[in-house]
Amino acid sequence: MIVDKANKNNAVSNNDELVEKINRLKKEKNAIILGHYYQRDEIQEISDFIGDSLALAQKAAETDADIIVSCGVNFMAETAKILSPSKKVIVPDMNAGCSLADSCDPVEFKKFIDANPGHVVISYANTSAEVKALTDVIVTSSNAAKIVESFPKDQPIIFGPDRNLGSYINNLTGRNMKLWNGACMVHEKFSVDKLIGLKQQYPNAKVLAHPECKKALLVLADKIGSTKALLDYAVNSEDQEFIVVTESGILYEMRKACPEKTFIPAPPDDSTCACNECAYMRLNTLEKLYACLRDETPEVKISDELCKKAVVSINRMLEISRNLGLIK
Ligand code: 13P
Ligand code: SF4
Repeated sequence: MIVDKANKNNAVSNNDELVEKINRLKKEKNAIILGHYYQRDEIQEISDFIGDSLALAQKAAETDADIIVSCGVNFMAETAKILSPSKKVIVPDMNAGCSLADSCDPVEFKKFIDANPGHVVISYANTSAEVKALTDVIVTSSNAAKIVESFPKDQPIIFGPDRNLGSYINNLTGRNMKLWNGACMVHEKFSVDKLIGLKQQYPNAKVLAHPECKKALLVLADKIGSTKALLDYAVNSEDQEFIVVTESGILYEMRKACPEKTFIPAPPDDSTCACNECAYMRLNTLEKLYACLRDETPEVKISDELCKKAVVSINRMLEISRNLGLIK
């Protein structure tokens, strides 16, 4: 026990030291740290801005920092670079990919588009820069349904790559968008049986679910939305207990915002773990964050030509979102 305590104290003082060094470097280099809600607690704590994919993209487009440190996964860092090509965008770990983005190969996606002429192409932000360049409008989970609805009802639409989000929007809007068959391996893994068990154990709890989950889970949810939408719902609700069906990193902000409320993470199917983590998001650590700021590497690089093509669909998303009053 004494050894455990000593180790814990060492870890705390190591973290304190790293936090100090990161903050010093950040100031010296005029850098901004943008963190997603699925990041480790300590990364969320040191970030200058925490948000969902839409808010992070907006922040990256607006910042006057010289260096953007993107603490999330690669598609978020790429979006930042595409929106701010003259800035240096660095990441703590270049291996932080995304299973959903990986489920949409640009060459195959192009064939899918070519096989369906006359369709508007709407893609979720969780895609590579190459897929964004093939897309008419990018969406995130916080604006997807509204952006789809901004098109005439009879407009044929291709939606990629998330089949769960796509079919959720089809149900919600009465559309029949053609869906790419991709999915997020984290959200696909949540267990319906375990969620039903938790609902019985906590009969007063509201279920909050991300639209990347399968339909069998979404039908059990009281609120479906982006990470930010789920957080806002928990903050504004009169209810006291919530079962959270998305990556468990979001619980940090939920508990911080509502310390008096109870948040229960929904578990995955295949393990004894109580919560479900995105292995890619968790690759980023304080040590790697410090090293990347110090050495200004690994840096996200995208050719000017690809940036110019991909920015069109992202800017279209920001413009429609502004017109719909979804962002300022
Ligand atoms: P949000 O846009 O809701 O933050 O979601 C991003 C994501 O990767 C969910 O898995
Ligand atoms: Fe990608 Fe899924 Fe991780 Fe989100 S949770 S970053 S969609 S792998």
